Amino acid sequence: MKLTVIGLGYIGLPTALLFASKGLDVTGIDVNEAVVKKLNNKELHIEENGIQDLLEETIDNKNFKASTEVKHSDYYIIAVPTPHLKDNSCDVSYLKAAILKLKDVIKKDDTIIVESTIGPRTMQDIVQPMIESFGFTVGKDIYLAHCPERVLPGKIIHEMIHNNRIVGGITEACTKKTINLYELLVQGKLLETKASTAEMSKLMENTYRDVNIALANELVKISDTLNINALDVIKLANEHPRVNIHTPGPGVGGHCLAVDPYFIVASDEKNAQIISKARAINNSMPDFVIGKVNKIMETIKGKKITVLGLTYKGNIDDIRESPALDIYHELKLKSDFEVVAQDSHVQLDWVENDIAKALENSDLALVLTDHNEYRELANYVNGTMKQNIVFDTKNVVKNTKGLKYYNFNNIYNI
Ligand SMILES: NC(=O)c1ccc[n+]([C@@H]2O[C@H](COP(=O)([O-])OP(=O)(O)OC[C@H]3O[C@@H](n4cnc5c(N)ncnc54)[C@H](O)[C@@H]3O)[C@@H](O)[C@H]2O)c1
Repeated sequence: MKLTVIGLGYIGLPTALLFASKGLDVTGIDVNEAVVKKLNNKELHIEENGIQDLLEETIDNKNFKASTEVKHSDYYIIAVPTPHLKDNSCDVSYLKAAILKLKDVIKKDDTIIVESTIGPRTMQDIVQPMIESFGFTVGKDIYLAHCPERVLPGKIIHEMIHNNRIVGGITEACTKKTINLYELLVQGKLLETKASTAEMSKLMENTYRDVNIALANELVKISDTLNINALDVIKLANEHPRVNIHTPGPGVGGHCLAVDPYFIVASDEKNAQIISKARAINNSMPDFVIGKVNKIMETIKGKKITVLGLTYKGNIDDIRESPALDIYHELKLKSDFEVVAQDSHVQLDWVENDIAKALENSDLALVLTDHNEYRELANYVNGTMKQNIVFDTKNVVKNTKGLKYYNFNNIYNI
């Protein structure tokens, strides 16, 4: 069976490699020639556990190759970016460009699957008419489905195999054809539904989490006003068997939680009230953190801040929509402090990889990402920093010996 995967990023590449490891003849397509060249040389352009081995194995077995040119396959999976536009609606330009690539290669009985996260009704209102304009009837001679991804970066390989997946066809025949492909790989349940239900389910998963984080962030601000330990409140409230308040932080980032809720808002702004407010609350957190940082620096007469962690979540290399990045830039551009960024996962010339080096002569260590390496921060701080002051917005530091330590439990003391 031949499979083409269009878009070789965090989702498309592991998907392509996993299907290739099951013996399918897989071609991965990307517009980025450098990515294609690297992959064919068995080199990765992204960090994700387990995919280096899969890449080497599937290239050696001739089950995977990368290319810029789409050729005929039995199945096509599209995993291109879908950011949000200025008006918050889903930018489908990459998706449309990927579908156009199929115009001259698809044949009767082929199946096209969109894995990219898309706004409600995109399959029905945009993708289906495009495919039908190529001369096919969806559900009769070509099959079309939305199969959204819900993987956790860092655990993508495991989750692609074991998570339950939603398969939403335009027709039942489309769903069945799509199931025939995914059951070769997925060990979790394959949940059959309509395309529009699949689209909205994916968006609501991330929206649920964004709203819940906003609730935790709002609690942090209220607790700050009232001198209450916010993290203790969450811990205790979550002892209730049916309560699960999420973890507060310096904001919400990434290509999913910080983007997907907007697709719902853009589709029905009048009714998407909580969703919209949650986005605003989470977007306000960088300013809240910066306010606290300024207060600490003023009190301690500090000069240098070391920002620890730039990625939007711990132990990954992804900085898309990261609030940590916004906080760093804001401090760097708008304050008089010396500001240094450290992240062992981010390879950029202005980012220091070495924790101890970044902390040299610093007055404040500002932890913005929960990388594992920050758990034992005291080991790096003592004797390196000018003042051993830490503001940990992710509650990740476990060893606080010898530190003046602030987190969302005691920021009202600042
Ligand atoms: N990364 C995640 O954890 C995650 C989880 C769930 C859903 N998603 C969704 O999956 C989709 C892909 O996300 P990602 O993180 O893999 O993105 P990515 O940016 O890592 O990768 C996308 C790739 O597509 C390529 N591309 C862009 N336009 C193309 C075109 N017309 N033809 C061929 N290649 C093209 C880009 O060069 C890039 O390599 C998005 O809709 C995202 O919202 C991502």
